[in-house]
Amino acid sequence: MKILITGGAGYVGSACLRYVAEQGHEVMAYDNLVMGHEEAVDGHAFVKGDIADTDLLTKTLKDFGADAVMHFAAATYVGESVENPEYHYRNNVGGTLSLLNAMRAADVNRMLFSSTCATYGMTQSETMSEATPQDPFSPYARTKLAVEWMIRDFAEAYGMGFTLLRYFNASGADADGRHGEDHRPENHLIPLVLEVPLGKRDKIMVFGQDYPTPDGTCIRDYVHTRDLASAHLLAIEATKEGTAEVFNIGTGNGQSVMEIIEACEKVTGQSIARDITERRPGDPPRLVAEPTKLKTQLGWEPQYSNIEDTIATAWAWHQAHPNGYTQ
Ligand SMILES: NC(=O)c1ccc[n+]([C@@H]2O[C@H](COP(=O)([O-])OP(=O)(O)OC[C@H]3O[C@@H](n4cnc5c(N)ncnc54)[C@H](O)[C@@H]3O)[C@@H](O)[C@H]2O)c1
Repeated sequence: MKILITGGAGYVGSACLRYVAEQGHEVMAYDNLVMGHEEAVDGHAFVKGDIADTDLLTKTLKDFGADAVMHFAAATYVGESVENPEYHYRNNVGGTLSLLNAMRAADVNRMLFSSTCATYGMTQSETMSEATPQDPFSPYARTKLAVEWMIRDFAEAYGMGFTLLRYFNASGADADGRHGEDHRPENHLIPLVLEVPLGKRDKIMVFGQDYPTPDGTCIRDYVHTRDLASAHLLAIEATKEGTAEVFNIGTGNGQSVMEIIEACEKVTGQSIARDITERRPGDPPRLVAEPTKLKTQLGWEPQYSNIEDTIATAWAWHQAHPNGYTQ
């Protein structure tokens, strides 16, 4: 298969690009590099462009002869989405509309979409299945839900085929330590905690220790990018025209912020200073996947079930690249 990967220079997109290429598919990354890194594309075919540029996207899809698209490109910072929702709606909703139009013009009918567990919002349930009601609490998450609806309508009206993948917390790095997470600024817990043993920060801030969880800190489901990537390959192969299937991608296990800090201490062999501060507005106490549908319908078997193994891959990457990618 020939697969165009929007956001292929970003964290999850580049991990999926490498995995899918290793499995024998032809890949091309399409990214405006607003957040991504060309080095992460690893020498695969790359077009620097914006998903808002429908003409360039159409030409790229046609010239490449794409069979399918994996669509990762998006603005992802929740805080930014509160301050500047116009950018998030323009980039995530408008940009995806542009991509869908380019796909129709180039006669490409299959696409995976990176959605998020944040579309579920606040919930009391222990785990979230695909049937859990969605009630997103940030503009970022609302743009993802808006795209889910848009995609369903396109499947119905134009016979295109989609799979919507709701990720929980992407984490980890390539097992060989060559590729990993480099967001500027960083906003994910594991890389932020690892900045302490790397000597880049004095301590980690813990936002709230009074949540209704066993140790009072928020619980999340950390899924390794390699397991996200294998789910994408299964999903693109299973995507059928005229449908819009939904799958959660998570391990089904949750770790609290304190458990992540302790696991990072074990992996790095260093003690990690922390400061407890006020809750951040809008953080749900618990977001943990129910991944049964992905396992039973697509045969997904995650390789990483132990959080220390996942953190060890991230630690290897950050030690080898303390300042991230060079370009
Ligand atoms: N990382 C997570 O834990 C997580 C969880 C749930 C969902 N997601 C979703 O997965 C996708 C990938 O997330 P990530 O963590 O890899 O983010 P990322 O910022 O590392 O990657 C996004 C990539 O898209 C590119 N991009 C953004 N706007 C673009 C545009 N208009 N045109 C072309 N390229 C553009 C950026 O340069 C970047 O390389 C996003 O859609 C995100 O919403 C991520």
